[in-house]
Amino acid sequence: MKLLMRAIALSGTLNYASCFALPPPEQIVISEHVKAKLQENDDLVRGCAGYEFPHVVCINHYGSVIKGDFERKVLDGYADSYASTLTPGDSSFGFVSEATFLVFDPVRGRQILGPSPLFDFMFSLPNFTHEGPVYVPDTNELYFARVKPGFLPQLVVNLSATPPTLSEKLADPPIYAGTGGRYKNGEIIYATISGDGSLGGNSFRPGLYALDVKSGKSRTLLNNYYGYYFSSMDDMDIDAKGQIWCTNNDYGRGDSVNTQPPQMGAGTFRFDPQTGQPALVENSLQQPNGIAFSPDYRTLYITDTGAGEVTISPFVPAPRIHWNATKARAIYAFDVDASGKHLLNKRPIYQAMEYAADGIKISRDGYLLAATGHGIDVLTADGTPVVRVQTNFTVANLAWVGTGEGQLGELWAVGRMGVARVKWALKGR
Ligand SMILES: *[C@@H]1O[C@H](CO)[C@@H](O)[C@H](O)[C@H]1NC(C)=O
Ligand SMILES: *[C@@H]1O[C@H](CO)[C@@H](O)[C@H](O)[C@H]1NC(C)=O
Ligand SMILES: *[C@@H]1O[C@H](CO)[C@@H](O)[C@H](O)[C@H]1NC(C)=O
Ligand SMILES: *[C@@H]1O[C@H](CO)[C@@H](O)[C@H](O)[C@H]1NC(C)=O
Repeated sequence: MKLLMRAIALSGTLNYASCFALPPPEQIVISEHVKAKLQENDDLVRGCAGYEFPHVVCINHYGSVIKGDFERKVLDGYADSYASTLTPGDSSFGFVSEATFLVFDPVRGRQILGPSPLFDFMFSLPNFTHEGPVYVPDTNELYFARVKPGFLPQLVVNLSATPPTLSEKLADPPIYAGTGGRYKNGEIIYATISGDGSLGGNSFRPGLYALDVKSGKSRTLLNNYYGYYFSSMDDMDIDAKGQIWCTNNDYGRGDSVNTQPPQMGAGTFRFDPQTGQPALVENSLQQPNGIAFSPDYRTLYITDTGAGEVTISPFVPAPRIHWNATKARAIYAFDVDASGKHLLNKRPIYQAMEYAADGIKISRDGYLLAATGHGIDVLTADGTPVVRVQTNFTVANLAWVGTGEGQLGELWAVGRMGVARVKWALKGR
């Protein structure tokens, strides 16, 4: 059993079937060259005691000193990766490209990864962004959206099947480009970025919608601000009182799923489904995007993806999202005030090491998980990176998945062209 786990852990990006195939023993022999590398203490990248190398690598001192000269090329319009850094004076850095898990804090890293962290690439998907993953524990399904012009069904993973299967379900009326969602009392509450006056006989406006997963019927919670269209209701979370906190940005147009130019600036809103009142709570971020509460609801995290620039113009179709590395790429933390209605003490806590933090989720014990470019960052509550999971596709959003003893013991990541899952010691909430 031990050998099997070691073999699985070594093979990095796995597909489901390969979990059951034991690789030949020579594949898990560590070469003399690698053993020597593990012992060189001043290397930036080294082995982590107890883990297969280079499936898991430790980054010395947050990589703060690169030997010799180096360059991480920032290409116009293209988001570069940490692994793309050129380090001619430090050959150990090459192992970053081969690793699935980068560990920045070996002690906390061990608590997060457990003895044998697994990464499985689950589904290869068409070249669109996949978003808004929501786990439905009652049916053991994962719902997510494809952000594709005119694409209306939800994609649904049956997690009870082995291997899990993917199908489409169409809500009545449809929910178009639901890019953020949470499950509550039999319903998925969605934030949507789509706007189209007539698509398949329906009109769509960015806002908040609820989908009853048993009946497939949907209802509208919020579709306007005193008559104005929202621009793109991108993501949301729900506080302990049931108020929905949601980010309104400009990406629906850049993603070609909203035909309407913005009528209001980007901002974060609080919506009370009891009274129906929408209220602006934050309007200093360039493109507020991922949003999640700490486990005690006292802190709200909001990401700013302003580095993904959108052109504000009335032109249809709108120009595509353009990457500008010098613009906003930070996660902010805010305190929720005693009334539970306002945000105080805005502070940046982390600048994404790749791309900009898109969707975020929180672990049971308060770690902050952020979809950042080709991977997922695991941060402490104050924004210190502990582990980075590297993927071969751009991750847009995350969901905790799983029933039974290991309740919410898997993290699923959806994004451009793919879906993957991580199994480790961290649990969701
Ligand atoms: C990512 O890797 C998986 C295999 O692990 C492969 O099936 C998939 O096509 C790759 N995706 C991309 C976008 O390269
Ligand atoms: C995916 O689509 C984007 C934008 O349409 C394009 O720039 C990129 O080259 C495509 N990638 C692949 C692998 O087809
Ligand atoms: C999910 O898969 C399980 C096991 O294969 C099957 O029994 C169940 O009917 C499937 N659920 C749906 C909704 O298809
Ligand atoms: C990126 O944004 C900066 C302002 O932060 C601007 O000066 C620059 O021209 C932009 N670059 C591109 C390539 O759009």
